[in-house]
Amino acid sequence: MKTLIEKANGQSIQKAAQILKSGGLVAFPTETVYGLGADALNAKAVKKIYLAKGRPSDNPLIVHIAQLNYLNEIAKDISAKAIELTKKFWPGPLTIILNKKDYIPYETSGALDTIAVRFPANSLAQKLINAANLPIAAPSANVSGKPSCTHFSHVINDLDGKIDMIIYEESEKEFSFGLESTIIDMTLEIPVMLRPGAVTLEMLKDCIGDVIVADNLLNDNEHPKAPGMKYKHYSPKAEVIIVSGNLENMSAKINELILQSENKKIGVLASDQTKNLYNNCLVLSAGNRNNLLDVAENLFSILREFDLNDIEIIYAESFPQNDIGFAIMNRLQKAADYKIIRV
Ligand code: TXA
Ligand code: MG
Repeated sequence: MKTLIEKANGQSIQKAAQILKSGGLVAFPTETVYGLGADALNAKAVKKIYLAKGRPSDNPLIVHIAQLNYLNEIAKDISAKAIELTKKFWPGPLTIILNKKDYIPYETSGALDTIAVRFPANSLAQKLINAANLPIAAPSANVSGKPSCTHFSHVINDLDGKIDMIIYEESEKEFSFGLESTIIDMTLEIPVMLRPGAVTLEMLKDCIGDVIVADNLLNDNEHPKAPGMKYKHYSPKAEVIIVSGNLENMSAKINELILQSENKKIGVLASDQTKNLYNNCLVLSAGNRNNLLDVAENLFSILREFDLNDIEIIYAESFPQNDIGFAIMNRLQKAADYKIIRV
């Protein structure tokens, strides 16, 4: 299949919308990561997403809308608290799990009776969804298991030849978070945060009161409640090992590990504060560790850059867990398959 790769303008948005309406796949940017979109109401179209990504079919998709009134068309039993969340955080990086309307295909919901819904803030995403005039099912636009895509070149790398179109923006300014949306399950008595993101637990609690954090986010051995969270995820080709501790101990330990691995191509995922402390390896800084939003934005593209340089082992510094740091460390721990050295 030839994949059209087009910069966003009136014409290319119409073309992309037409592809979505006729059951094709289009990758598009959101304010978190690139999504791989299909008509959420068309089971055949949705199946193509699973095929293109190599995604297990029991891993449900997020349905994207760009007008609030679509919410009532795809979800039911919407509580007052869920409405509060939509008022406060939409459009934006929050996905809300609700009971699904019967006609939503089980292919979209991964055989569940619930549905994940998100109203993205990125204006190109909104224009595309509105032009298609459909709810758009869109997982992250990466090959299953790899880090999500935060630049259209990443999407080309993963999905060229497997999907109908990639639409991208010249300026990626609206691309502000770099980690997938926060997911909250609102079908339960007490809402549960299933995946951390830019909308933090504190922000959710401020808005609706009690919110529980899914057990698996606190304890690695728990079976995840968001079906997708149980799969290998965010993994570059290289083995990732996190070193956790204060800056001095962390950098000393990483230098010791570099010395012990002299036959391997080593990468260090560092920060602006520490990037000059390492030698004889590829050092990439995720940014200033006092600006975690920056680190979040850079994380996935850095993991991909190590791959482009054929790095075999990545020693990753750990980052503070406050604010978006909780989401950063969640993704990093999954990329490392929970291999953590504490010093
Ligand atoms: O920021 C994002 O959310 C991006 C952009 C494209 O919007 N999308 C994204 O989709 O990250 P994906 O498919 O990579 O992650 C969706 C997660 C999976 O872990 C999936 O298991 C979970 O959402 N999920 C979807 N529907 C669910 C449901 N009904 N109940 C529980 N978890 C659900
Ligand atoms: Mg994903």
